[in-house]
Amino acid sequence: MTTLNILTLPDKRLKTLAKKVDVFDKDLQQLIKDMFETMYDAPGIGLAATQVNIHKQVIVIDVSEDKDQPLCLVNPEIVEKKGEQVYEEGCLSVPNIYAKVKRADSVSIKAQNETGKSFELTAEGLLAVCIQHEIDHLKGIVFLDHLTPLKRKMALKKLEKNKF
Ligand code: NI
Repeated sequence: MTTLNILTLPDKRLKTLAKKVDVFDKDLQQLIKDMFETMYDAPGIGLAATQVNIHKQVIVIDVSEDKDQPLCLVNPEIVEKKGEQVYEEGCLSVPNIYAKVKRADSVSIKAQNETGKSFELTAEGLLAVCIQHEIDHLKGIVFLDHLTPLKRKMALKKLEKNKF
């Protein structure tokens, strides 16, 4: 089993813009396997490659209770957003900090799987939150960036305090 090291704030590498994947080879499939193991081990419900310092557009997600519905998104793109929801989010890169974030209630996306096959998916509720949160990571955005400057400052202070 390989678990990868997860970057945490204020690590600047979390701000890196991920590149599109154009080669679907054994290395990519190994990365995806390692990312799932890292996410399940953490434990978390989603992980973007950015968080393990690999700057490619790869996301793994499993929001199921029994952890038996793995979803891998390569080169994901949101094509439609509908409605609004507020969910208290957390992030493996921002340990022990939770904050309410407003996002679309439902998203339709285009993505590729681990072998490069294209597919479309419409998600709502927690899965929609998770997809939006992870796609943000690929753009160098963490959930705290959606908060007001004051709330973000407070969260970062708390994060710093937790380290000691
Ligand atoms: Ni996150």
